[in-house]
Amino acid sequence: MPATACIFDAYGTLFDVTAAARRAAEEPGAQALAARWRELADIWRAKQLQYTWLRAITGAHTDFWRVTEDSLDWAMEATGLSDAGLRARLLRLYRKLDAYPETAETLAALKSAGHPTAILSNGSADMLADAVQSAGLEGCFDAVLSVDAVGVFKPARVVYDMVGARFGCAPAEALFVSSNGWDAGAATGYGFTTVWVNRADDPVDRLPWTPHHMVDDLRAIPDLARTL
Ligand code: LAC
Repeated sequence: MPATACIFDAYGTLFDVTAAARRAAEEPGAQALAARWRELADIWRAKQLQYTWLRAITGAHTDFWRVTEDSLDWAMEATGLSDAGLRARLLRLYRKLDAYPETAETLAALKSAGHPTAILSNGSADMLADAVQSAGLEGCFDAVLSVDAVGVFKPARVVYDMVGARFGCAPAEALFVSSNGWDAGAATGYGFTTVWVNRADDPVDRLPWTPHHMVDDLRAIPDLARTL
């Protein structure tokens, strides 16, 4: 039997979406942001996801970069931080988010055990290419799959269909890893074997499906992949 394909969500799972606001807040002259960077980052992320769901439901797709800009504008206005220079800086930093510290070692362990690996993300192809490159993760993935190819955001089933199309595996034979509880839950409903990386120690989402596994970070993934 071929080694299990390990499929990773990108934002929040491999890449720290709070890093842009945190880094900007550390820069000289960023006193206003320094006091509120975490609140800005959390609102930005929450609104970004809401916009993806609303656009998916209404058929009003656009690329994830536009959604990221729109949600930042809302978050900056909501926190009283609207400023053109800061906006540009935050967006530049979002193109080169930090990877979580255990990401590279996890991907290396999967590769040496012969597991195919991929990103499956709402991110646009150019955003994902920038993120992978700036985090030094080039060569770590067999595929970087963007919803650009299907024109709708997660959790639409056609997004998850890209995994079988690329790797030729049945859904249950793929290990799908996401830090987004709703993404891991919906992927369970799709038929993947799922891992929720519950970095924030959040409650389980009240959805019709729950993730098969819950872990604190990515380090347990190679063992889970081996025993699937
Ligand atoms: C992604 C978002 C959902 O990378 O985190 O698809």
